[in-house]
Amino acid sequence: MVGTAQKFVALNPAYPRSWWIVAWSSDVEPGQVIPARLLERDVVLWRESDGRLHCMSAVCAHLGANLGVGGEVVDNRIQCPFHGWRYDDEGRLTALGGPGKPRSGVCLPTYQIIERHGGVFLWNGADEPDIAFPDLLGQLGVSEDDVHFTKHRWLLPYPAKHFCENNSDGAHFPLVHDTGGWGESVMHDETPTMIRAEHKIHDARPWWSFANVLRRVRKREIGNIVAPVTGDLVTDSYGATLYTVRLSGRPGVTGSALYSFTPVEENSFYVMEMMLMPRLKIPLVDSVFHYVLDHAMEFGSWTLARQEAAVMMHRHEPERPPYSSYDRATVAFRRMWDGRIDSRSALDGTSVRHNGQGAGIRVKKVSTPDDLDRVEGSQA
Ligand code: FES
Repeated sequence: MVGTAQKFVALNPAYPRSWWIVAWSSDVEPGQVIPARLLERDVVLWRESDGRLHCMSAVCAHLGANLGVGGEVVDNRIQCPFHGWRYDDEGRLTALGGPGKPRSGVCLPTYQIIERHGGVFLWNGADEPDIAFPDLLGQLGVSEDDVHFTKHRWLLPYPAKHFCENNSDGAHFPLVHDTGGWGESVMHDETPTMIRAEHKIHDARPWWSFANVLRRVRKREIGNIVAPVTGDLVTDSYGATLYTVRLSGRPGVTGSALYSFTPVEENSFYVMEMMLMPRLKIPLVDSVFHYVLDHAMEFGSWTLARQEAAVMMHRHEPERPPYSSYDRATVAFRRMWDGRIDSRSALDGTSVRHNGQGAGIRVKKVSTPDDLDRVEGSQA
């Protein structure tokens, strides 16, 4: 999966040790360098001429210039824009800008990444991933030749975790996205690395019906007609950070997706959406179909993000929420998120990075800092 000889580190251990979608492969051409701000850290993505992609700290070990802003790939090394220090794919300093020998032991942190379906996935951990990469195509019974992954990315101004955990909250779909009367989540699977929940939307409104179209027009929510969530759906949460969504309310594979909500700062994140649509076997027709459907899906999906933001941006969750029975999947999600955080800092209870006691998860009484992250179990 990932080379074993190289030493990697976690990008930010205050966030779950898991997969995050951080860019699209097309963002970085061979020989190109781009900056990125992810999980509250500055990184640089750069690609060698043979196509190999690397991700490392963007902060030059010399005087701290950002390698992603003006840096270049030279002889398959990344060169700092300030004085020309060069680093190899393992972060080791290999040359100075001028004469002189590089000091030994100077090395930048590097992060594990892989590319799949045109997306770039970062593993926020130092060890080999303990989560198998989601096989969405296999679950849907299609191959890469049968589909397009159409990709959308938006920056939203509130904590990533507030959006992440809504994948497990079936009760919010009918209300926030106005898709039915009420909703419930049925847990099908819960392991330390994956939660599968089926969200049943009761009294769902058929999205194609005249009554629904009229209702949408009157509410000025026409985007809901093409929004992907319109009926029952199944979500798999891998490591609490990478999600697959399969829809029952839409025909075929259209609208099923791979997602991540990747923090930029504490209170901002990118929606990284890789949505499936069928590939037609007639080239020109497929291009037109792809173009039109991609725009429709982006519009519909943005509608969901906007509806979600309208609620999430104004939340003030109590320290100990009075959970109800339909919060089971949300609490399970929070348990997994908190359980995969390696940070040794205290749980802060802000629910921005992790919930601590606010998640309904009891943290053992401790006397050493190492114990602070130990999750004992759910109170819900
Ligand atoms: S700051 Fe990078 S070479 Fe000087």
